Amino acid sequence: MVFAEKLKAWQKRHGRRGLPWQGTRDPYRVWLSEVMLQQTQVSAVIPYYERFLRRFPTVEALAAASEDEVLKLWSGLGYYARGRNLHAAAKAVVSMGFFPRKAEDIEALPGVGKSTAAAIAAFAFGERAAILDGNVKRVLARYFGIEGWPGEKAVETALWERANRLLPRDGIETYTQALMDLGATVCVRTPKCEACPVSRACVARREGKASDIPAPRPRKPLPQKAVTWLLLLDRGQILLERRPAPGIWGGLWSFPEAPSKDVEGHCRRSFGCDVRSTKTLDALEHGFTHFRLRIHPLLCQVTRKPAVQSPASLWIDVEEVSEAAVPSPVRTLVSRLNATSHM
Ligand code: ADE
Repeated sequence: MVFAEKLKAWQKRHGRRGLPWQGTRDPYRVWLSEVMLQQTQVSAVIPYYERFLRRFPTVEALAAASEDEVLKLWSGLGYYARGRNLHAAAKAVVSMGFFPRKAEDIEALPGVGKSTAAAIAAFAFGERAAILDGNVKRVLARYFGIEGWPGEKAVETALWERANRLLPRDGIETYTQALMDLGATVCVRTPKCEACPVSRACVARREGKASDIPAPRPRKPLPQKAVTWLLLLDRGQILLERRPAPGIWGGLWSFPEAPSKDVEGHCRRSFGCDVRSTKTLDALEHGFTHFRLRIHPLLCQVTRKPAVQSPASLWIDVEEVSEAAVPSPVRTLVSRLNATSHM
């Protein structure tokens, strides 16, 4: 049996079954799952996927929503550009009047790369299109003994060429899911070769190189940035500001950033607040793709003057913050606040 046939047979016995996006050919549901599954694990995606579909059962419902509401349901999944792109793509689909059927047309939607487009085309329309996400790159690099780092152009080209050549004549859905599942459960960082259906022909396995392929990305240490966040608290309410887009967490509600000096003057001028006391809370770190952010929270008990509300700021009950479109560190800080007696 060739590679694809072995994978399909393996999938039927050992692949992941019963995931909420399996067993549908509805392109909206397939697309939503593939976008959520970019950079995020299955177990983390499932509750978001179900909640999202309850609120937005169709692409029309998603297109008609406000970006704020979309980001609210996305909040916690991270990589918010995915949420914004999803919303933009829903609007594009609704204005076209149909969901594109071919991988190359699906790839034109915001936030959909070549591999994701192929997965959607395969699962929703049965197109023979090759996927090549991070997991699949690892599988194929090992199987063919392609050394070097998968970000290199030559490696990338070789992997796409192999991925296309391996495609089966039929059963593309099962095959595509098999590749994903093999990469996620067997051909992992420390591979479980004894459970692999194609280990006998695997070059890396034969040459004892399975743990050395793919070569690790040549990494520079990520730069660190630091920021002080102002947690302005007034009788159980706290101030959030909407972050500008583009930029990190664009469109989400977060705590205002402190200036380097004269926090009290800043609070008076910008938020109409008199600071009565301040307290430095434990710092926390958040990792982005390109840097690490160290967040220093400064809790300020304030007295609010009759304030002018701006559309970019919001006083909200502390208990309600976690229901808003907020990034994870805001959620973490608020749950720490709720767990102590700062109110
Ligand atoms: N990762 C990306 N797409 C996936 C899918 N359809 N099932 C499981 N994991 C995935």
